[in-house]
Amino acid sequence: MNKGKKLYEGKAKILYEGPEKGTAIQHFKDHATAFNNLKKSTVEGKGVLNNRISEHIFNNLNQIGIQTHLIRRLNMREQLVRLVEIIPVEFIVRNIATGSLTKKLGIADGTILSKPLLEYSYKNDDLGDPLVAREHLLEFKWIKNQKELDQINNYCLRINDFMLGMFRGIGIKLVDFKLEFGKTNINGVETILLADEISPDTCRLWDVVSEKKLDKDRFRKDLGNIIQAYQEVARRLGIIHEEGNISEVKFGKPKSIKIKNK
Ligand code: TMP
Ligand code: ASP
Repeated sequence: MNKGKKLYEGKAKILYEGPEKGTAIQHFKDHATAFNNLKKSTVEGKGVLNNRISEHIFNNLNQIGIQTHLIRRLNMREQLVRLVEIIPVEFIVRNIATGSLTKKLGIADGTILSKPLLEYSYKNDDLGDPLVAREHLLEFKWIKNQKELDQINNYCLRINDFMLGMFRGIGIKLVDFKLEFGKTNINGVETILLADEISPDTCRLWDVVSEKKLDKDRFRKDLGNIIQAYQEVARRLGIIHEEGNISEVKFGKPKSIKIKNK
């Protein structure tokens, strides 16, 4: 499929104009960044895995009635998506305290939260995506009104519910994750769609038994074996199989994967 002009290049993805009005092509790169671009590197094969993992999760969410921007995957690195106007808010859902929550508030790492905790960050790289209150979202019109906020909060909790179960079934604890939503006009109706991606780049995933990290914390904390961890998530989700591997990237046999560090 022919790509149009580049619309936007982010840290891990590029968005191109799509073949029809209102569509775009989302391309997954191998770039990895952390701490607002302070740490950067290339992790060969990450884009391919995130493309497949995100496709899998978005398709599953679609089946439970969460509308997403995904139309279909095009190839190993690209998806055809609906072009949306991104709401400039990162919606963070937490089930277990770790990461910035523990650093900012001194909560013990690994504390199980009594119910899912929803946080909001203003999407602004220059400001380092600061944590904001619900009131900021409405006051500064990042979200139109309370009804829209209620709707998105509700989507976040339903997505959490679904993903908790999906990952539990494959021996993974869903610790926390980040979501982005966008708006578009579908048949004359302004519609909120889940956008961006859901992958080990945007979630914290711990093995149920060993608590080994199977996500981007391996990169953030220099734990090594990043691609093997992402591959393990894809294998458990049934996206890649024991014998096969995703073309383009030589992953080696999954049996040989050993993630030594926590
Ligand atoms: P945090 O503990 O660093 O605030 O991260 C919470 C969750 O959000 C974690 O699953 C990682 C994800 N996340 C992103 O996807 N993008 C980001 O820019 C940040 C800061 C976190
Ligand atoms: N994605 C952010 C960055 O590029 C932060 C993170 O995921 O840790 O810096």
